[in-house]
Amino acid sequence: NIRGAIFDLDGVLTDTAEYHYQAWQKLADEEGLPFNRQANEALRGISRRASLMLMIGDRRYSDTQIQEMMERKNDYYVELIQNITPDNLLPGAVSLLDNLRQAGLKIALGSASKNARVVVEKLGISDKLDAIADGYSVQKPKPAPDLFLFAAQQLGLPPQQCVVFEDAAAGIDAALAAGMWAVGMGPPERVGNAHIVLPCLDGMTWGKLQGKFRDIAL
Ligand code: G6P
Ligand code: MG
Repeated sequence: NIRGAIFDLDGVLTDTAEYHYQAWQKLADEEGLPFNRQANEALRGISRRASLMLMIGDRRYSDTQIQEMMERKNDYYVELIQNITPDNLLPGAVSLLDNLRQAGLKIALGSASKNARVVVEKLGISDKLDAIADGYSVQKPKPAPDLFLFAAQQLGLPPQQCVVFEDAAAGIDAALAAGMWAVGMGPPERVGNAHIVLPCLDGMTWGKLQGKFRDIAL
């Protein structure tokens, strides 16, 4: 009996995944690090530090340099998200949020980003969320279950009554580790571990999702 929905932000409600990519690309170009769109796929849903570690590979950098590069990437990202408006919501996102609330579900954000609150405000969906778990909420990043467990706790619900919407493999793993239901957004090669895989949120309703959950319960 699902009573709560937890939404990842980047790549699920809005396409900030593209802005993260652009910011990382700019940093990589400046540092002469090999990087491209395809390499960026591995960073989806990964924390800022872990992303940088993957980018630098076995090159040696001091802690100070790593800190500076994380800040520089974030400066580029913060600049890019200034232009976000409700137009940046992905198709079907708002109608699903409204539909879930009408159906009586509690809704939380579960994003690893420290910029999540700013993005949520610019998207104009703050009043559609009952709780926000973001990059400041817990220590351990996805695929650890901590962030989603924190979100469920904020909603006052046990994990098994929550469904997570995620576009990243690390996020699906986190949801499953938390003992929650997982809906993967995107290609099965990426989110195939989820209980249900959807190409996007467009046209999705709580009724349709319940039907899909009933199908897999058989
Ligand atoms: C989300 C995004 C990642 C990003 C992470 C940290 O998980 O999918 O691409 O690296 O948040 O975001 P931040 O804004 O704190 O650097
Ligand atoms: Mg994401």
